[in-house]
Amino acid sequence: MSAEFQAPKGIPDYYPPASADFVRVRDTLTEAASLAGYGHIELPIFEDTGLFARGVGESTDVVSKEMYTFADRGDRSVTLRPEGTAGVMRAVIQHGLDRGQLPVKLVYAGPFFRYERPQAGRYRQLQQVGVEAIGVDDPALDAEVIAIADEGYRRLGLSGYRLELTSLGDDESRPRYREALQEFLFRLDLDEATRKRAEINPLRVLDDKRPEIKEATANAPLMIDYLSDSAREHFEVVRKLLDNVGVAYELNPRLVRGLDYYTKTTFEFVHDGLGAQSGIGGGGRYDGLMRQIGGKQDLSGIGFGLGVDRTVLALQAEGVEQASPARCSVFGVPMGADAKTELAGVAAKLRAAGISVDLAYGDRGLKGAMKAADRSGAHLALVLGDRELADRRVEVKDLKTGEQQQVSLDDVVASVQGLLEG
Ligand code: HAM
Repeated sequence: MSAEFQAPKGIPDYYPPASADFVRVRDTLTEAASLAGYGHIELPIFEDTGLFARGVGESTDVVSKEMYTFADRGDRSVTLRPEGTAGVMRAVIQHGLDRGQLPVKLVYAGPFFRYERPQAGRYRQLQQVGVEAIGVDDPALDAEVIAIADEGYRRLGLSGYRLELTSLGDDESRPRYREALQEFLFRLDLDEATRKRAEINPLRVLDDKRPEIKEATANAPLMIDYLSDSAREHFEVVRKLLDNVGVAYELNPRLVRGLDYYTKTTFEFVHDGLGAQSGIGGGGRYDGLMRQIGGKQDLSGIGFGLGVDRTVLALQAEGVEQASPARCSVFGVPMGADAKTELAGVAAKLRAAGISVDLAYGDRGLKGAMKAADRSGAHLALVLGDRELADRRVEVKDLKTGEQQQVSLDDVVASVQGLLEG
């Protein structure tokens, strides 16, 4: 019988035991950024619709087809955040973080929302870990951001991914390229909508997934051939730095990202074990975004968004053994009401000492309670009956070796600590 209520289509739930993988991936990727001095930022789940429309770009699929936009009760148009960079930039401007020490280095983790067609690895609520480094246009930051992502994946034990890299040029390169690309596109026999796209944002046409458009644009001019001297030099330094830290990459001059704000260094991490939804993370530099969303100055930024859901799938595809952590270290088995009261007190003391404890609840008898203890993955079971209670003692069973011993209830915390460490 199906339940009356289901989670909305394309929106995953994360629950034990698999949620432990999700948490490990999210925290490991976040930790890789903390190790490079990125400070945590927590942002609203929804923002003014205009922020995303202007920041991400009206002609992107994300803005034109995929946003969860609605009017709030005050009739303001708000949108569930489809990505994190625009919100971070908004917060940096709003709170004047750009007037402090630069670069501003921030890391975030959480859900984002895109009304895409759900399929394996593509959800309408997706989870990302992202970083943004704002305020300094230094190729060493580009390399740092990329190296953090690479380090995060490696710490998780992931190996079967590729890093694709290109440069999307700067203010000087882009108009020249745009002209060349439009000249090429206008010579093609394009449908009305695609032609319009070519007029407004020609680069988006190269992101068209239809085979006939892909074929027609196979020989389109490439941005990499139109880089200004300074954009080329920036890119060369990024490559040298990546070589130096040992991060392997492939140049992909046809790399087109789904968001409009990218300039200069742009990259994607691709995993070949995932089928169609192979992008496990991506990012790049964004020179014009601050001005675009109303900033008085125009500070450059660089960042990434790593897909937590897809990284979990990639680890599964590679068969990387996920440690399934025990729910708790100690499991209390009380036999009778007085024992239950006593063990509840012991559990509180153990937890206060930082030891995780669960208890058998309900009246399932010794056999059922010991089964629950085994299932919990706990290292030790504390079995307390009336007889032990009368002697102020408790039976401690090592659930791995089966060894049993009695310890005094009055210094049970120290005994348990000793046994767990030993
Ligand atoms: P993005 O490439 O749109 O970039 O998303 C980053 C990652 O989120 C993707 O590589 C993918 O792993 C994951 N992702 C995206 N959509 C879905 C989905 N529907 N289901 C599951 N996973 C998904 C950004 O969002 C930029 N804000 C990244 C960035 C930060 N660029 C500069 N700074």
